[in-house]
Amino acid sequence: MSNPSLLILPGDGIGQEVMAEVRRVIEWFGAKRDLQFDVFEDLVGGAAYDKHGVPLHDDTMAKAQEVDAVLLGAVGGPAYDDLDFSLKPERGLLRLRKEMDLFANLRPAQCFDALADFSSLKKELVAGLDIMIVRELTSGVYFGEPRGIHMEDNMRVGVNTQRYTEAEIERGARAAFEMAMKRNKKLCSMEKANVMESGILWRDVVTEVHADYPEVELSHMYADNGAMQLVRAPKQFDVIYTDNLFGDILSDCAAMLTGSLGMLPSASLGAPMENGRPKAMYEPVHGSAPDITGQGKANPIACILSFAMALRYSIDEGAEATRLEAAIEKVLADGVRTGDLLSDANSTAVSTSGMTDAILAALDESL
Ligand code: NAD
Ligand code: IPM
Ligand code: MN
Repeated sequence: MSNPSLLILPGDGIGQEVMAEVRRVIEWFGAKRDLQFDVFEDLVGGAAYDKHGVPLHDDTMAKAQEVDAVLLGAVGGPAYDDLDFSLKPERGLLRLRKEMDLFANLRPAQCFDALADFSSLKKELVAGLDIMIVRELTSGVYFGEPRGIHMEDNMRVGVNTQRYTEAEIERGARAAFEMAMKRNKKLCSMEKANVMESGILWRDVVTEVHADYPEVELSHMYADNGAMQLVRAPKQFDVIYTDNLFGDILSDCAAMLTGSLGMLPSASLGAPMENGRPKAMYEPVHGSAPDITGQGKANPIACILSFAMALRYSIDEGAEATRLEAAIEKVLADGVRTGDLLSDANSTAVSTSGMTDAILAALDESL
């Protein structure tokens, strides 16, 4: 059998820094667990624009369609703020999601015990927290037509369209119900059916799909209330299913429950390929963090945990994924911290690579 193939797209800013650490983890699995990968690396975002004049080259897109998993760092940065909209780094990422048809974006928010004190919420509210946001990723207001900026009565008008077909809502709902079945069998669907027709349809379709998953306890919540409930009593949730834009915002909100945006991984999954595994891209939830780029301060854990998700969902190596997650948990329990995980300016932080050194040492100990 051939090795599993990975396409690594570090992207911009700290994307490059955290992905360099993931490469070290990949090498560890090759050397110590005899898990070999065919690794390809290419450009996306501003880095691709600098070389090719576009945020994603067609050859890179084609490669992404072929591999077992794409690993992406982050895209964007102030250097690209004035670019034409179609050339912005973020368009490269959105093209990957759309053309690979990665409709189910899994964004787990888990609070490691060692970090419960560090959340901006009280410890008892977040200790043991383990929720999974399933964000619809290829439709909604991110992609709906018409869109653009045009003139009307001598005034500029900006237009975006929230549009969902029932098929789009349904396939994401099935992914969310399947996820709930593997977890605590509780699903909360979030929309704004009180003000949006797309929200009414969302609620109807999710309710229809529920008929196929009678064991799952389904509830519906308006997304604004959902945001409030996430910070009031986050442990009431198990799986949350929501649209592209609400999911973007709610997952950043959930990130802070866990201590830092630098902790949150994600998996974006599409339809099964010939080998039965889903088309997939794995990326941290955070962005390119221009404010700390080049300083060795970035927390690599979100990106390394995203690789753990790749091991689980794309490589069929769930036990190795658990080994990696346990190593990270141990390092945190030992008090190893990057700067984003420290509230006390007098404590000492390790660098990006220092965090990986500790994780690799914990992996060695796990053997
Ligand atoms: P951001 O996530 O880059 O940063 C928000 C804050 O969190 C910053 O203070 C940053 O220093 C901190 N932070 C983020 N990740 C961290 C990590 N791993 N370790 C330590 N601290 C971390 O969001 P932003 O500043 O709103 O956006 C910056 C750029 O990134 C923009 O161009 C945006 O479009 C892009 N972006 C890209 C992605 C992606 O590629 N998936 C996601 C979000 C934002
Ligand atoms: C994310 C990001 C992206 C999004 C941007 C960079 C296109 O914020 O992955 O959360 O809005 O989906
Ligand atoms: Mn986001």
